[in-house]
Amino acid sequence: MKHKKLLRVLAGESVSPPPIWLMRQAGRYLSEYRAVRAKAGSFLNLCYNPELAIEVTLQPIRRFGFDAAILFSDILVVPHALGVPLDYREGEGPVLQPVRSAEAVAKLSREAIEERLAPVYATVQGLAKSLPPETTLIGFAGVPWTVAAYIVEGQGGTDHATLIRWAWRDPQGFAALIGLLVEATTRHLLAQIQAGAEVVQLFESWGGAAPDALFQRWCIEPVTEIVRRLKAAAPEVPVIGFPRGAGAWLARYAEETGVQGIGVDQGTSLAVARAVVPDRVAIQGNLDPLVLVEGGAALDSEIDRITDLMAGAPHVFNLGHGIHQDTPPEHVAQLIERVRSRRP
Ligand code: CP3
Repeated sequence: MKHKKLLRVLAGESVSPPPIWLMRQAGRYLSEYRAVRAKAGSFLNLCYNPELAIEVTLQPIRRFGFDAAILFSDILVVPHALGVPLDYREGEGPVLQPVRSAEAVAKLSREAIEERLAPVYATVQGLAKSLPPETTLIGFAGVPWTVAAYIVEGQGGTDHATLIRWAWRDPQGFAALIGLLVEATTRHLLAQIQAGAEVVQLFESWGGAAPDALFQRWCIEPVTEIVRRLKAAAPEVPVIGFPRGAGAWLARYAEETGVQGIGVDQGTSLAVARAVVPDRVAIQGNLDPLVLVEGGAALDSEIDRITDLMAGAPHVFNLGHGIHQDTPPEHVAQLIERVRSRRP
């Protein structure tokens, strides 16, 4: 019998009250995070310093008692380990040296992923030893299309025209990049599992940018291959897919990729998601990050609506996307208290 709530739900059980954690639960909305972040100097120093990364992962667990802790790291450490220069600029987000051709892909080095990311695995190992026994440890990675969006565009916040035009113009060259990312992502996740991650989440943050005719080939197929390889090596570890903006592709994504849980963003109808996602796949989501910033009666009624809609089904309470940095921590406390005290 599994005793951890998140593992029970990902095994297909409906648990009431549901387990709760929040995407990007460690971060700038917490003063104790900002203090450690200042001490680390840069965001990447924080990601690659196991002592500090363990500390910021544990901060929201100590403060709120979430049912799961997510490794503190970033999806862009994978391209960084492949040799793509990466910098996080204050107020601007990540900046990478863009890769825009098969020739540029051939220059990336797949040899040293585990060696370069050793500090990340040391963080996972340290967390596995220090978490409370009821807390589940989640590892994660970005999936190929989403990580490619940053590698090809060279930054966040674009319209993804360079990425999408490459996919249309030169499917073979683009396949070289996606294939490399399938391998690198799988190795990165397996190393986290070996270090003690009990669940892994796959972030498809820019799934919504993929045109209809490209979604199957560049979003669903690479993720299906990653899940197949993970299951071959670690069949017992559940996988959560989060295809943000997948829209009408959501059910297909849940069905074909082989995931045990599916994240639903706040723009997608939870009622429709519940109706179309196979019953064996747990649903995670989909509280609007901005109603959590607002708090008050609006937050309470949203919590109730989501709880009622998901009653009787395997559900993980979470946001529809990462927590907003302006979120008052008291609202997170209000959220947890209500989710845990309410009965549908
Ligand atoms: O959930 C957690 O608490 C674990 C940590 C985590 C971070 N990034 C820390 C972070 C996780 C799971 C991520 C995933 C991630 N990173 C995604 C997928 C989720 C999503 O939001 O769609 C993406 C797209 C990235 C890439 C990334 N990292 C961007 C675009 C930015 C800049 C945006 C911003 O908020 O500044 C980051 C930086 C980042 N990653 C921060 C944190 C806490 C803020 C940096 C800082 O503290 O200075």
